Amino acid sequence: PTIYVITPTYARLVQKAELTRLAQTFLHVPQLQWIIVEDSPHKTPLVTAFLASSGLAYTHLHTPTPRDRKLQEGDPSWLKPRGAEQRNEGLRWLREDRRGQTGAETQLGVVYFADDDNTYSLQLFDEMRDTQRVSVWPVGLVGGMRYERPVVEGGKVVRFHTGWRPSRPFPLDMAGFAVSLKLVIVNQDACFDGDAPMGFLESSFLQGLVTMDELEPKADNCTKVLVWHTRTEKPKMKREEALQKQGLGSDTTVEV
Ligand code: UGA
Ligand code: MN
Repeated sequence: PTIYVITPTYARLVQKAELTRLAQTFLHVPQLQWIIVEDSPHKTPLVTAFLASSGLAYTHLHTPTPRDRKLQEGDPSWLKPRGAEQRNEGLRWLREDRRGQTGAETQLGVVYFADDDNTYSLQLFDEMRDTQRVSVWPVGLVGGMRYERPVVEGGKVVRFHTGWRPSRPFPLDMAGFAVSLKLVIVNQDACFDGDAPMGFLESSFLQGLVTMDELEPKADNCTKVLVWHTRTEKPKMKREEALQKQGLGSDTTVEV
């Protein structure tokens, strides 16, 4: 089965660096299609050129986050969910692309939501490829913990190891699960709720799709960390700004 990776992304100084790291991971993964969704009213030249030269199979989409749902300068990062509209646009495309097609073959596939700043091991993609409904695994460096993970007993997920609100329907990070394409197609209305309170974005999507009992534990019964919720530091531009004031700033035609 093909792995469809949906990645929301937005313009910022580190964007090309993040996308480069991601693309060069994905180049090692067989049968992967990258669905990249820009948080923007149009496709940007940077991402367009980047994808064209990436060597990957990709679909380039865009949709802007509505103003009232977007974090404003100075807001704490947890105030509003990020990437919800973009992941929904990716889901819309996947469903649309298959409309009218029949046969089991067209429904073979796995959908994974990969943020542009995380770190993914190649083994993770081997683990998720045979997802029947929803597969799950640990995520490192997330939620103020060394890792969060589903706890497996007798081959079944019985609860979740998390530091915060374990009572959430699915206390999992976005990087900690994959869904079969078939489940996405059959459940036409499953999507992410951009108004979900903090920590409930993943649950808003998974709630209608599976029960805890049906989750398929991967990565040696969820004992191995194969994906890390890394976050990239925002680069400081103090020197750049100082030089700009003297008319000596870096050449703005050089893409970074
Ligand atoms: C955590 C989770 O890992 C995310 O999957 C979840 O969407 C997010 O919390 C949330 O609560 O909404 P975090 O590292 O805090 O992630 O979020 P970011 O990495 O900043 O953003 C997640 C994705 O959305 C990234 O791919 C990012 O490029 C994209 N994004 C972010 C946008 O498309 N637009 C934005 O304005 C901000
Ligand atoms: Mn992140």
